[in-house]
Formats: sequence, structure tokens, C-alpha cells
Amino acid sequence: MDATAENMMNGEFFGQFIDWRAEHPSDDIMTELLRAEFEDETGTIRRLRRDELLVYISVVSGAGNETTTRLIGWAGKVLSEHPDQRRALASDPSLIPAAIEELLRFEPPAPHVARYVTRDVEYYGQRVPAGSVMMQLIGAANRDHRQFPPDGDVFDIRREARQHLTFSVGTHYCLGSALARLEGRIALEEILKRFPEWDVDLDEAKLSPTSTVRGWDTMPAVVGRVT
Ligand code: HEM
Repeated sequence: MDATAENMMNGEFFGQFIDWRAEHPSDDIMTELLRAEFEDETGTIRRLRRDELLVYISVVSGAGNETTTRLIGWAGKVLSEHPDQRRALASDPSLIPAAIEELLRFEPPAPHVARYVTRDVEYYGQRVPAGSVMMQLIGAANRDHRQFPPDGDVFDIRREARQHLTFSVGTHYCLGSALARLEGRIALEEILKRFPEWDVDLDEAKLSPTSTVRGWDTMPAVVGRVT
């Protein structure tokens, strides 16, 4: 294992940067985090410890990188399978924000989240005892025909905008949802400007093997221009 991979494994990936930034403050988020004061669970007002900062930065960086890259991969696949809708986007980029929303719904990069159940609850006549672990299938909910009539399994960039679960709901709602949408829009705008036509070679494509996110590690594309 090389030094970078080892640093990532033991959570030290951002360690050197944190130490350097502590010595060289700037107007960036790391300086803000180093200076931020908060009341912890014991009622003490304090700053984040180095190990807490490392965890925080590793979570944000993982959550931000693992997901948006996969959104862009899904855009490549799904729009290759729906060339008419891709051409509509290329000729009218004002449709792109709605297309990103539909891509997020149709192929959520994080297709499930888990919860520890702290008290007995009942859902749809089924009792779930405290202490259980529940897995919520975002990918399935996002295709529910009742929420996305008449057929949630159909990809349609002109679909009426309705709440999907791709960024979860409640306390843990995705911190980076606005950034993710922005990244998706810019990526799609720039790709469509350069390559309005493409096909993907699904036989040579490989899905990522991770347990938390779903997307493409490789997906060879053949690009061309509208004639
Ligand atoms: C398409 C892109 C993205 C998807 C699909 C996505 C999905 C999610 C989901 C489903 C959750 C909730 C997890 C849960 O309920 O257990 C979540 C939380 C989170 N996301 Fe994202 N995310 C994306 C982009 C980003 C970006 C760009 C960032 C930051 C730069 C980010 C940072 C976070 C953080 C920090 C949390 C934890 C929030 C909390 O627990 O309070 N995400 N994301």
C-alpha cells in the first residue's frame, strides 16, 4: 500500500493539510472549522479536536465525491438510452435542471440508507421493535407509481416535479444537495455542448462494488456530433 492509500485508510488523508492550515490560516472552510466554537454534549464550549476534524472532513469529502461522480455516470448511461430526450436537452439547455432532478430520482447514486430503531414503531401494520436495524430502499421509493404517476419506471425529463428521496429526508438530509445539483447541471451543460451524441458500450462497463453507493467505475462511450 502506498503512503496516500495508507493515509486514507487510517483517516489521516487530510491530516497534513489540517496541521498546515492551523499554522497558515486563510479565508477557507478549514480555517473556519479550526476556529469554530460550539457547545458539546457535556455543555463545554470548545473547538473541534484534530481527530474530530479529520472525521468531519473525511465524511464531507467522501459524501461529496463518491456521489456526484456517480450521478454524472448515470447521466451518461440513461441519456444514451433515451436519445430523444438527450437531443431535447442539447437543443434547449433550460430543460437541464429538470433533467438532473429526474436523473437523481431515476438512478439515485445512494440507493439505500440504514437506521437504528430507538423505540418500537409500527409501519403499515408491521411492528418494528426497538433495537432493530432498518434499511430504507430509496431506489424503490423513487419508482413508486403513486408518487410518480402514471409509471415511476419511466424516465421522463418533463415529468411533474415531486419530492423524491435521493437526498434522504429529516435530520440527516444531505448537506451537499444544492452543490450536487449545481455540479450535475454544469457537467451536463458542458458535456452536451461538446458531445450532443453518444452511445455507451454496456458490455465493457463495470458497476462499482461499494456497499453504500451505486454507479459506474468504467463506462466506455462512443461520442459523435448531431449531423
Ligand atoms: C448526487 C449527489 C449526492 C447524493 C445522491 C447524496 C445522498 C445523500 C444521502 C441519501 C444522505 C443521507 C444519508 C442518511 O440519511 O443516512 C446524504 C447525507 C449527507 N451528504 Fe450527501 N449526497 C450527494 C452529494 C453530497 C455532496 C456534494 C456533499 C458535500 C460536499 C454531501 C455531503 C453529505 C453529508 C455531510 C451528509 C450527512 C448529513 C447528516 O448526516 O447530517 N453530499 N447524502
